[in-house]
Amino acid sequence: MHRRQFTQSLLVGGLAATCWPCTSIAQLQKSDLAKVATGRRAVAATVHPLATQAAMSEFRRGGNAIDAAVAASLMLSVVDIHNSGLGGGGLALIRTPKGEIFALDGRERAPLAASPETYIRNGQPDPSLSQTGPLASGTPGLVALLDQLSKKYGTLGWKGGLTLAAEVAARGFPIDAPLARNLTANSVTLKKFPESARVLLKDSGEPWAAGETLVQTDLANTLECLAQEGSDWFYRGPFAQATAKLMKASGGLLTAEDFRQYYVANRPPIECVYRGHRVVGFPPPSSGGIHIAQMLTMLSGMDVKSIFAESPARGLHLLAEVMKRAMADRAHWLGDADFAPVPRTLLDANYLSGRAASIDLKRSSVVQGHGQPPNSSEDLFAPGKHTTHLTTADAEGYVVALTQTVNTSFGSKMMVPGCGVLLNNEMDDFSLAPGVRNAFGLVGSAANAVAPGKRPLSSMSPTIVLDGQGQFELSCGAAGGPKIITTTLQNLVRVLDLGQTIDAALASPRVHHQWSPDLLAYEDSLPADIAQQFASMGHQLDKGKTLAVAQGITRNSDGSFTAASDPRVPSQAAAV
Ligand code: GLY
Repeated sequence: MHRRQFTQSLLVGGLAATCWPCTSIAQLQKSDLAKVATGRRAVAATVHPLATQAAMSEFRRGGNAIDAAVAASLMLSVVDIHNSGLGGGGLALIRTPKGEIFALDGRERAPLAASPETYIRNGQPDPSLSQTGPLASGTPGLVALLDQLSKKYGTLGWKGGLTLAAEVAARGFPIDAPLARNLTANSVTLKKFPESARVLLKDSGEPWAAGETLVQTDLANTLECLAQEGSDWFYRGPFAQATAKLMKASGGLLTAEDFRQYYVANRPPIECVYRGHRVVGFPPPSSGGIHIAQMLTMLSGMDVKSIFAESPARGLHLLAEVMKRAMADRAHWLGDADFAPVPRTLLDANYLSGRAASIDLKRSSVVQGHGQPPNSSEDLFAPGKHTTHLTTADAEGYVVALTQTVNTSFGSKMMVPGCGVLLNNEMDDFSLAPGVRNAFGLVGSAANAVAPGKRPLSSMSPTIVLDGQGQFELSCGAAGGPKIITTTLQNLVRVLDLGQTIDAALASPRVHHQWSPDLLAYEDSLPADIAQQFASMGHQLDKGKTLAVAQGITRNSDGSFTAASDPRVPSQAAAV
């Protein structure tokens, strides 16, 4: 099934030949972790320096922001395997030089044999089945998404990016602190799956430590097979067959037919106008675009800048109050709009000003549940720690905001034998039953119930902001389950309302409220007096979490771009 031979021509101009020979990878990680970079021609920001360098390598070879994003994504599938990979999915929001915006949906789909009963044991929903092991995985979409992005909008093809990623997988790379932490935290579960343990743990079964080298020979072979044979190798060939065999042997549902039927959906993006800016987000099966638009619309009637200037605690409290209301709607109304009736009128300005009317700037309010948008059964979206976000832009006018994931760390923990690919556990993003919380503590309704071929609801929120003339101003997005939505809101408010630079916005302490449970989470970098004010406003507090990991790009008034990566992780921004 496998053949691996690196063709020298693909390496020319690539990683080994130009930017960081193997011996200097560790050095690069230590010395070049710029969190912010400004340039006129091209920029990239990702959570890992090797992925950012893969993007810059494609720019240097004459590629555009699409080629760069594809190469970065593939590299993340090697060096950031706990967060995303070829066995997962992604949502890409892209802008073209003509000013068009496309929302390309490479989200996983439920197996054709899946149903709500799949996850019931002894009459009760069992979330352990949707979180770990053979029933946890949907049909992966990332490979199809990258293939389509590259073919439709790229200029170089994806072979260069695949070869760079294959080379790092084959030679190995130094494990960074987040990967080491996640290997340690998940080693007991990984050991239950012999193939995952063989590839990801030491022979002794111990997790690798930060600074040690992880070699992934099988994954290198898989990447090389994709380079040589294209995505049919994955969806209609040996990879689909190997996964089907694994599933049959272990009680899973995915079949070769699931892979054969997978498709990337091109969906109309969500748009709202906020303070004169066009904020464009991702539609269902993401909940991010709708809820960010809802929250911004609720805020648009308020003087957010003055509220923050008078009292940062009150400003953040206001954001928590709009988060609660949006997330209560999420729990009731949201699901894959190809399967469930998701009302367009969730974005109705009158409906949202009604929802915002009960906000008290001095007290936490109890939000009983979802609202009732007008014409909710008629005006519908037409069918149409963990996770990672990357972004690229170029002077030609392409912008990519791409969030990709295998869901929770290392996904289902199951690896396809001989392929080095971890399968996602995205089935846990469905609502197994009303009131049953998923791994993020989220609840949902029948709108997000399991159904054959349906895509689970996502919080991934790749976002692009345009000015009134349609010129690119800002791209942002994040990783972190539902905290993606609330983090993206805070970054938008910090840049668009408070006038912060993108790097300052990303570095600021974050808060998060997802309505249920009724807790206001905040990062421990938040000044203590602000937390005290939250308590005196009546919020139940949850302290000390790192809330999401975000990347962003802004276009400056002189036409240059500034890329920023999250200071919470060993990420990198770069520019030329
Ligand atoms: N798997 C996390 C999300 O898509 O929201």
